[in-house]
Amino acid sequence: MVMFGASGDLTRRLLMPALYNLACDGLLPKRFALVGVAMDELTTEQFRAKMSTDIRQFSTRKQFDDEVWSDFVRHLSYSPGAFEDATTYARIAALVTQLDGEWQTEGNVLYYLAVPPPLFGLISAHLARAGGTAADRGWRRVVVEKPFGHDLASAIELSRELLKHWREDQIYRIDHYLGKETVQNLLAFRFSNGMFEPLWNRNHIDHIQLAVAETVGVEGRGRYYERAGVMRDMIQNHMFQMLAYLCMEPPISFRPEAIRNEKAKVLDAVRIMRPEDVLTNTVRGQYGRGRKADGTDAVGYRQEPQVDPQSRTETFAAIKVFIDNWRWEGVPIYLRSGKALWRRGTEILVQLKKAPEVIFRETPAMERLESNQLIFHIQPDQEIEVRFQAKHPGPSMNLQKVNMRFDYREAFQAARATGYEVLLYHCMLGDAMLFSRTDLVESAWKIAQPILDVWAASPAEDFPNYPAGSWGPKAAFDLIERDGRKWLEVVNRSVIEQVPLFSACDAIFQHNIAMALKPEVYAPGDLIVRKGDIGREMYVLVNGEVEVLDRDGTALATLGAGSFFGEISLLLSEPRTASVRAREYCDLFVLDQRDFNRVLRDHPEFARSILEASKARYKVNIAAEQAFDRQVRLLMGG
Ligand code: BG6
Repeated sequence: MVMFGASGDLTRRLLMPALYNLACDGLLPKRFALVGVAMDELTTEQFRAKMSTDIRQFSTRKQFDDEVWSDFVRHLSYSPGAFEDATTYARIAALVTQLDGEWQTEGNVLYYLAVPPPLFGLISAHLARAGGTAADRGWRRVVVEKPFGHDLASAIELSRELLKHWREDQIYRIDHYLGKETVQNLLAFRFSNGMFEPLWNRNHIDHIQLAVAETVGVEGRGRYYERAGVMRDMIQNHMFQMLAYLCMEPPISFRPEAIRNEKAKVLDAVRIMRPEDVLTNTVRGQYGRGRKADGTDAVGYRQEPQVDPQSRTETFAAIKVFIDNWRWEGVPIYLRSGKALWRRGTEILVQLKKAPEVIFRETPAMERLESNQLIFHIQPDQEIEVRFQAKHPGPSMNLQKVNMRFDYREAFQAARATGYEVLLYHCMLGDAMLFSRTDLVESAWKIAQPILDVWAASPAEDFPNYPAGSWGPKAAFDLIERDGRKWLEVVNRSVIEQVPLFSACDAIFQHNIAMALKPEVYAPGDLIVRKGDIGREMYVLVNGEVEVLDRDGTALATLGAGSFFGEISLLLSEPRTASVRAREYCDLFVLDQRDFNRVLRDHPEFARSILEASKARYKVNIAAEQAFDRQVRLLMGG
């Protein structure tokens, strides 16, 4: 393996730890040698010493195996040189021949270009001239990292450059999402189980959501990110790859070309947006100053190093696409990704159509039918979850949403890995299944290009439009809510525990409440609750500040993160007693009346805490207080 860019971050953070993991698992051949190539003037000894220090920082294994590493490090060499200098390649060729003799690598060479894409053509041309791309014996392959182009035109140009020096079957384009176990499992799940595939179409599926949320900002990669944005950085590659796995037709085998052909077909069937569609089907965002998960201040994107203080680059996007084929006609697919969000999580939701309500008419369950949901938790949780309804214990036909979860950690023993192991392994075996192909890359750009064009022609005027650490721009919520749907926000117990109102409640309560809460976002000045309206939900404020207004609009009080409101009209079944307005961008959990009542009944401790807090806050008069107590007692069945 010849690794260009051997002194870079990718090498020390991911590639070396991945090779080391393969060595630990006995999956790296003994007859293996690696040549690091970079500008830095290092000797082989110095390179080995540097890698030996870095691996201790970046190894993903619980215990470091000195024996494996000291054996592995003997396989490493280093050859300094500038990429534009022909002598660099002559030296590499000589070293490769020498190592081939020493380690008997049978003429096989894998070139890994861990360098920026503008260098792919240059390095390939030099390698070809030095005789490195073709071999009399063994194979020659090249691995390239994204971004594969900046737009459709540059992607076509980049492929043309590469194809001048390599055959298509020699090129391995890495998309590290395809190395993730949970992503590969999408295919296993779909095609090895008879249970869901018959439902996998427009007759049964209402819509699909794919979300990749990150808590990190751009982390010192401002220069790159300024030209990329989330559309190029995440959606055009990682997310379209997952979409292809999820929506492609069954392949005729697990052979790489069989799978890649089906992926190509489904990406080709994604409807290309017209400019007017881009305006209605996409939303973009950029984070401003806000708060990190640990409560400390976070800078806005425009304050990040190497970012233009007036930058119009998007760090968040939500888009709605359609696949125009027999299987998916009319099923909306919503994709969303962003940086500096409130939590990290990649999830895919497949929402089925609702069951007919007619059977339940005249029962209390009538209003409670919800759609079944199948959720793939890709990371950091690695789970598959099915949400459905069950009868709530008691004398009447009442329903409650419940779930079943399969957790990887409970079923398998797997060492934590970088995700690159499987990619390197497949590449060494010559199996291209997990890699992208020229036509796949171009199809993905064809979907993204009209969006990028419209965005470039009409730069966003409202950036920054979401604070760091929040749930993303309000417009993204409007995008899906206009269609009568809601984003799936995975609210797990660790989130619930941070909300003071719920923190002391027991685990069953926290689990149930997590499934009942719905996230909503409000922009500054939005009215959340209007005095006089009939209350149908209560609110828990997670981020931001709201003000409570009296009849003539004067602010009576300000409520901050962690507080709740709106419960009183649910308890007293009276119109809202005050209006509440967002003072700034606000993220809220909403609990609707039916869930609220059920929760009160099942969890008296919640009823008590809510009662006490509301009585104190609203200083309710005696008559109201009695009504209040009575109502809670009734709900609690006492
Ligand atoms: C990379 C992007 O491809 O993927 C990064 O360039 C992003 O901006 C990263 O943070 C996300 O990868 P993962 O595996 O952490 O989800």
